[in-house]
Formats: sequence, structure tokens, C-alpha cells
Amino acid sequence: MTLHQPSHHESAHGHVSGAARYVDDLPRPPGLLVGLPVGSPIACGRLLAVGRAAALALPGVHAVLLASDIPGHNRIGPIVHDEPLLADGPLHAVGQLVALVVGESLAVCRAAAQKLEISVEEAPPILSIADAIAASSYLGTPHRMRRGDVEAALASAALRLDGELRSGGQDHFYLETQAALAIPGEDGSLEIQSSTQHPSEIQSAAAEILACDRSRIVVQVPRMGGGFGGKESQATHFAVLAALAARALARPVKVWLNRDQDMQMTGKRHPFWSRYRAGFTADGRITALEVFIFADGGWSIDLTPAILDRALFHLDNSYYIPNLAFEGRAVRTNTASNTAFRGFGGPQGMLVIEDAMSRAAERLGIDPAELRRRNYYGPDAEGAAAVILPEGPLEPAVLPLLRQRRLTPYYQDIDDCRLPRIHAELLRDADYAARRAEIDAFNARSPLVKRGLGFMPIKFGISFTNSVLNQAGALVLVYTDGSVQLNHGGTEMGQGLHSKMLAICAHELGVREPQIRVMPTATDKVPNTSATAASSGSDLNGAAVQLACAEIRERLRPLAAELIGASDPARVCFAEGRVFEPGGRETSFAELTRAAWARRIALSATGYYATPGIVYDREAGRGKPFHYFAYGAALTEVEVSGLTGEHRVLRVDILHDVGHSLLPSIDRGQIEGGYIQGLGWLTSEELVWDRRGQLLTHGPSTYKIPAVGDAPEDFRVALLTSAAQDSVVHGSKAVGEPPLMLAISVIAALRHAIAGFGASGLTSGLASGLASGLEPHLAIPCTPEAILRGIEDMRTRARAQIISAAE
Ligand code: MTE
Ligand code: HPA
Ligand code: MOS
Repeated sequence: MTLHQPSHHESAHGHVSGAARYVDDLPRPPGLLVGLPVGSPIACGRLLAVGRAAALALPGVHAVLLASDIPGHNRIGPIVHDEPLLADGPLHAVGQLVALVVGESLAVCRAAAQKLEISVEEAPPILSIADAIAASSYLGTPHRMRRGDVEAALASAALRLDGELRSGGQDHFYLETQAALAIPGEDGSLEIQSSTQHPSEIQSAAAEILACDRSRIVVQVPRMGGGFGGKESQATHFAVLAALAARALARPVKVWLNRDQDMQMTGKRHPFWSRYRAGFTADGRITALEVFIFADGGWSIDLTPAILDRALFHLDNSYYIPNLAFEGRAVRTNTASNTAFRGFGGPQGMLVIEDAMSRAAERLGIDPAELRRRNYYGPDAEGAAAVILPEGPLEPAVLPLLRQRRLTPYYQDIDDCRLPRIHAELLRDADYAARRAEIDAFNARSPLVKRGLGFMPIKFGISFTNSVLNQAGALVLVYTDGSVQLNHGGTEMGQGLHSKMLAICAHELGVREPQIRVMPTATDKVPNTSATAASSGSDLNGAAVQLACAEIRERLRPLAAELIGASDPARVCFAEGRVFEPGGRETSFAELTRAAWARRIALSATGYYATPGIVYDREAGRGKPFHYFAYGAALTEVEVSGLTGEHRVLRVDILHDVGHSLLPSIDRGQIEGGYIQGLGWLTSEELVWDRRGQLLTHGPSTYKIPAVGDAPEDFRVALLTSAAQDSVVHGSKAVGEPPLMLAISVIAALRHAIAGFGASGLTSGLASGLASGLEPHLAIPCTPEAILRGIEDMRTRARAQIISAAE
């Protein structure tokens, strides 16, 4: 595994052979019991009583734990502790945790759960954003950003758009459902093995629930079978339930959800509802954007405020907007508490401005990729005279940056927008102009099947928006045979973080990969960690690993120089397990470590990194929340059937900016996987609840994630070259979430195809010229039903336009 070179995933062999261990694969500790969580049967109301006698009477049942059995503080939550771990009165969602049945086997627990007598008082639930707004059912405070004068700019705009947009939730559908194993130790200690992105959060929540010190609790993560944000805050509940039972019964307890329970009990991507007004010049430059966004937080706060913030931070996507007014609010509904999901509100924010961009291109008759290009941050290609400044008085301090179109709505300076370059390279390499013309020609002669080509640029802010979370640690232990144990604060969920950390450690110490063992993430190795999230796992932990390794290497350097007789310690090189002076003598890293031990030189070190220079004032809506931005662009080609509304993705071209990639093969996997996951959200995954708040789509038979057959037939991914990023470890960039948003290009592609049904879906040449300037109406997710409705609507409006022109 060499830095910047393609390499396999560090667990690849374990994944395919089955040797890689997940929580449920760990050896069963003696006396293991199983815990089965039981959820609320109703979406809204009160829990009156839980009769547990009949359940407890079943042989093999050891306990039925309720809120009253919690020794500590029955409240958890990642930002605000607003959730009871087990319901203690009000019920807010179907599946909200009410009890934990603990028994010898899952079968016994299931039988016992049937015998629980849960009596409730039911009230009508709030199940939509509209109903929540009507009932003033909000979570947290609004977040606003403002600049210039939107009304004045709209009044003078050549094109004004009014819009409304809905985007739906998304289940994480990680292969491994939520799982935890708690094992009691001596001295009131407890070891918790959990499939979590956030071991420190489980440690602190368990300590509060059990009323003990955090030092009594060790949380370990072997690896996850996927997290995607769904295990940032919501692995905690099940791990802490296992801990509660293990403490109560003094036996090891495992809690592992099946797919249906997991989908019913855990939160999802936030559905959003947005309204906007936008103004454009006749040549397609945006002059004003007013947006109200509402995020459906579900029943508790969880991470909703941070997700809402990130949605606002991405309402601009890649574009300079002179006049703007953004306002975001989160609503409380009676569904599972919605949570982090790859992109963390960013995708939902970007959808809004992309809708405006697509519609403006359709209405103004400008190529949609070209219209987007004209709006990128950075000096206007047409020169300073073309720059649109905000209306009204301007702050002298920021005027030069405004003239260069460099200020985001939150006043962060975009000093290196890489999109003009990405745009030019992608469109050239993917042969955009010729293919667009070809598709229009194809559509003109094909009445029932249409094709479309859609373009999408992205700019995604890298850092936790809550600045204090941007810190990480590492602990490196070197043994006297030259082998190394590498501990860092990040968790492995398939994204390849451990592989990258291994490559950094190997590079820094100059040892080969087989000499290094990445240890399971554990709170007793690196304390007080942030979640592995916000795509920042490798930036933050990588820097900490680099610092720890460099410290050990520098401690060893003078001794190394002495051993090989180097004239100057600075000339000693560490590489491939060898320690040498170029052209001079050498020894091995193993020899060096033995000698260091004999000289009593310490062979372990910690590393600690905190991202410098990030601040944000939420009240003012201003600051520098992001250390830097990741950029990318995608071009998606689709084919749509006018008979069924089904579509296929024929070809995807992506050019993505990962800086100087730490491991290009891993990054490529992240780009492909992120795109496909975004495609699922936008085209096939649809969550349906009944009127009483029961999730009806709680398994793969009714909830359709993309399968192999849905992958693009021709998938071309390229990494931007010569793109090293300043002040990030080895010039790399975060990659985990940004590519998901590249999938928004599928909507642009579908719109292009649907427009084809208006322009030439009718019969004659007369039709094609006349039925133009019509915007497709397309609901999200773009399922076959939604696409077919969009096609029918387009055909109807095109016909009406022709008839009225003829009259
Ligand atoms: N890739 C895989 N294979 N599995 C995952 O669960 N999670 C995504 C992304 N890529 C995920 C993934 C999410 S939501 C984030 S925030 C990042 O990985 C987290 O890891 P990183 O910070 O190391 O990139
Ligand atoms: N991204 C992802 N997860 C988070 C964030 C964020 O900005 N803030 C808190 N958790
Ligand atoms: Mo990722 S949604 O930040 O876990």
C-alpha cells in the first residue's frame, strides 16, 4: 500500500473470504443473552403502562427493561439530550423504544414481546411538513442568510421563477444492520462492541444512562458493514440498551436488529420542502435567490440543526449569487427521528438551486451546462463589467471580493474555484456538444423513446459545521521487532479510512504495510473523538497519524545516524523498512527499534490535530465554516420509455477533485458508490407511511435500492490531475460524501428527455418548432410513475400550445 498509488482495500481479502469480523462475528462470550428492542405501536400519544408479568413468566426470559429500570439519566441525543432512551410517558413515533426484552434466544424474546401488555392513549399524529407547519410544530431555531436586496433585484430581472420542490427521505440500507454487544467486566466496568461511527458518543451516553464515570466504559468498533451517516448518532440507542441489560443482569448481552426493525426504528435522510423565487438576466446569470427550506426532523432533535445548517450552506452550490435571502427551519413530525445521511443536508440544499438553473436554461433557451458555467464563483469570463453586485449599500471591506464573485452567502471567500477547469475538461473529454446534438436528432426521429443528457457541477464544504468537532487523535506503538500498532480515532465503515491511515503511517515511518496493524477503533486508545463523519475522517485522523509517526521517526533519527555512521542525521532516509543514507550504509527499521529500546528511547507517541482557522457565527449567518471545498462534475445520459416511464442510465462521465489522492483506487470506489447511492435516492427509493404513521416500506421487497442492473452501462470516472490541496494531509481532499450529489445530473438528464416528448412527441414538423420553452414538471423521486406523469403532462401542454397557436 503506497501513498498516492492504486491499492486494494486493507480488508478486501477479509471481506470476500468472510474472515473480516463484524460485531455479530465476534466470539460469543460465555453466558451471552439476547436483547430485543420493542417499539411504540402508535405514532403519537401516551404510554400508560407496560404489563410485563406474562412475558417474564416465559421460560428463558431474563428481563423486560423499562424506563424505570434506568439507574442514571434517561435522556440521550447528540446535540441536545431530548430523547428518552426508553419511553417514559409521551410517545412520538411508531417504533420509538419502549422496552428491551432480554432472554436466552431471539425466539424466546419474540414470544415474550408478544406477551407484553402495552397500553397507550392514541392521539392524531403529524406526518407531513405541511401539517407540522400548520401546527407550528418546530425543532430548534431558524437559520438565516442575507445579502443585498432580493425584491429590487427580482423586480428588474429579465426572468423571474417561482418554484416549489420536495425531496424525499432515504433509508441507509447499510448491509449490516444496527448491532452491539456489551460485556460486563470487573470494578463496574463495561466493554461495548458496537457497529458505530461514533464510539465516544456511546461511551458518554452509556455513562449517563448507567450513572457511572466514562472511564469505566470502553467502546470498540471492529468495523462496520456500512454506516452512511445512519450510525453517527443512532447506533447509540442499541449499544446503550445492550449496556443497560448487561449491567442489570451481569451477563453479556447482544442487540442486533433485523432489517424490518432497523428500517422501522431508525431515522432516515431528512425529507425537505422548499419554496423559492429566483431572478436571472437574459443571458442566464442569477441575480437574486430567495429560499425557504423546511426539513422534516422526525420526532426528536438528533442532528437536525446541523443538517439544516449544511443545507443552507449548499443552497448556492457552485454559483455566485449577488442578492439573496435564505431561511431554513426544521419541523417536528411523528416519524422516526431523521438523521445524518451522506451529504448531510447538502444534497437537499443543492436540489433547490439546480431546479432554478435547469428551469432558467429551459426558459431562456440556453444550454443548461453553459448557463451553469456562467454562474460559477470566480472572475467573470466576460470581464469585470459583467459582474452583478448586490443591490443597495455595499460594505467596502468585501467589495473587492464581490467584484471577483468570490463570496458565498455566508461570506466565505472562494479563492480557488476549480470548476471552470473541471467544466472544460469534462465537457471536452465526454464530447458534450456533439452528444447533445446527437441526442436532439435522435429524439426528433424517435417518438416513443427519448434520450437526455444532464450536467451537474458540485462544490461541497469540508469540515464539521460545528467547528469544535474538527479534531482528531492517534496513538502509534512501535515494537522492538519493527512492527507497528496503529490506533486512530476514526472508524472503518467500508470507505477505506484504515487503508489510507495505513498508507500514511507506512510512508511516515518508512516501513512496509505488512509490518503495520490497524487496531480496532477504541475509546481507551484515543479518547474524546468526533464521529467519523462529514467526510473528514482521513483529513483529521490522517493528520494526527502523520504527527504521531513523525514524532517517533524524529526521536529515532539521531540514533539511526549513529548506527549507520551518517554524517548528518538530516540525511537519514526511512523507506520500505530500511534506514539508510543515500550512497552510504544502511540498517533495518527493526534493528533500529531494538537499538532504541536498549538506549531507553520511547517507541510510542500520540498525535493530535485540530483544523485551523474555522469559525462561524450562526446568528449573523457569517464566517468561514469550511477548511476548503471539494469540487466535481458529472454528465449523465439516460434513455426514457414514453410507454412505461422507465429509464436506464446509459452513460456517466465524472471528473472529480480529490486533491492529490491518498489512494486513487479507494477514492474511485467512493465516487462510484456515492453516485449510485445518490441515483437511488433520486430515482428509485421511496418511503411510504400509512395514515397512522406505520412505515409500509420496511424491507427490500417494497423499498428499492439500486441493484447491479441499475448501474450505468458505461461508467467513466476520472480524478482531477495536478490538484494537490494546501494544508490537508499529503495534498489530499475528502471524498466520502461529495460524489453523491453528482447524481443530481440524472434529474437534468431526465428533464432533457421529457422535454423531447413536448418538442417532437407529436407528429409533424409543425409541432417541433412551436412546442418549445416548456419546462418539464418532474417529481422526486423520479420513479417510473413520476416520469410517466411528467411525460403525459408535457405531451398535454405541448398539444395545448399547438392548438392555441393554430387558433
Ligand atoms: N463508504 C462506504 N463504503 N460505507 C459508508 O458507510 N459512509 C459515507 C462515506 N462513504 C460510507 C462510505 C459517509 S456518510 C461519510 S461521512 C464518509 O464515508 C465517512 O468516512 P470518511 O470521513 O473517512 O470519508
Ligand atoms: N457533517 C456530518 N456530521 C456532522 C456534522 C457535519 O457537518 N456536524 C455534526 N455532525
Ligand atoms: Mo456522513 S452523513 O457525515 O456520516
